[in-house]
Amino acid sequence: GHEITVGDLARQLSVKAGELIKKLMAEGVMATINQNVDFETATLIASEYKYEVKSNLVSLDDILSSKKDAYESADQQERPPIVTIMGHVDHGKTSILDALRKAKVAAGEAGGITQHIGAYSVEKDGRKVAFLDTPGHEAFSAMRSRGAQVTDIVILVVAADDGVMPQTVEAISHAKDAGVPIIVAVNKIDKPNINLDRVYTELTEHGIQSEEWGGDTQFVKVSALQGTGLDDLIEAVLLQSEILELTAATDVPGTGAVVEAHLDKGRGPVATVMIREGTLRVGDHVVAGTKVGRVRAMTNHLGKRLKSAGPSTPVEIVGLSEVPMAGDTIDVVEGERQAREVAAWREEQAAAMASGKSSAASLEELLSKV
Ligand code: GTP
Ligand code: MG
Repeated sequence: GHEITVGDLARQLSVKAGELIKKLMAEGVMATINQNVDFETATLIASEYKYEVKSNLVSLDDILSSKKDAYESADQQERPPIVTIMGHVDHGKTSILDALRKAKVAAGEAGGITQHIGAYSVEKDGRKVAFLDTPGHEAFSAMRSRGAQVTDIVILVVAADDGVMPQTVEAISHAKDAGVPIIVAVNKIDKPNINLDRVYTELTEHGIQSEEWGGDTQFVKVSALQGTGLDDLIEAVLLQSEILELTAATDVPGTGAVVEAHLDKGRGPVATVMIREGTLRVGDHVVAGTKVGRVRAMTNHLGKRLKSAGPSTPVEIVGLSEVPMAGDTIDVVEGERQAREVAAWREEQAAAMASGKSSAASLEELLSKV
């Protein structure tokens, strides 16, 4: 079976080995710091620390089955889907995002100055959809490999005049690897001389078959340029999201993923964050990857100031002491001390990983084999 030493587990949980040994004894497990405990025991202990050192467990949490139980016992609420738009170069990803955003701004959010923060949400008939600005396939995989899978649905953009191209195929395989359902947006249908049958056939050859053709993938014909089909696209996303029954606990400390971050001359480090679970509040102590801080101000994608934000909300935050990396997980912690502990632990993990040492290796093993 999979095993982990008590010392490694203690480090991963950011607790003293002695404390962990006591806890194990209470569970009837006698083990010294260098001895192994089995996976079940590690999971049990990890779940006990969930709220105390939650942030340490985020990467573990995502995979450990105990997390599910913990969140299920917390109050679950429906949450908006988080959508990533992918596709070949120039097939119109940005145009579709812009058209969706503009349509909304024009339709009722006039007065709010739309600023580009790399993620935003669109509302239709009172239902929200969160979009991640196309992060590029590498960023998507990098985020995934760090456990920060933030996408529920992929919109695959395929230009009707160009069909399936290398990055289309790549996007399909990324989405499939991630187990994320695909909605196809056949874009540029305003163009003359397009052959939709050809596009459908090419996609079928790659395992993506439209519902119209008896498959199970929603295809939506759009023109970002002319603004046609965009409502249908949102509808398709909402329909898919109903099937997925997406929920999240709101009444727990926030956890999310850094979508992008930069240093602003006036405001210092600024990070765009997609909240996945729980609630993030102004004043919260956080750790983003290995960077610590306290949320000083938070705004939504329209530049509106927020005091708190729940699951599937994209926000921009200031208050970190340094610029984190895209794909870093960000977590609310109890205080500055805990933030530093978590950051130190992560740095240690990264260093161990880089030098191929055992603690990281065993962590990896533990994670990948579950
Ligand atoms: P990269 O970010 O470079 O990968 O490209 P992209 O997929 O974001 O494509 P982008 O939105 O930049 O569009 C590429 C080109 O296609 C631009 O010149 C757009 O004006 C054009 N375009 C996008 N959508 C449509 C459409 O619906 N119809 C037509 N005719 N042109 C479009
Ligand atoms: Mg683009």
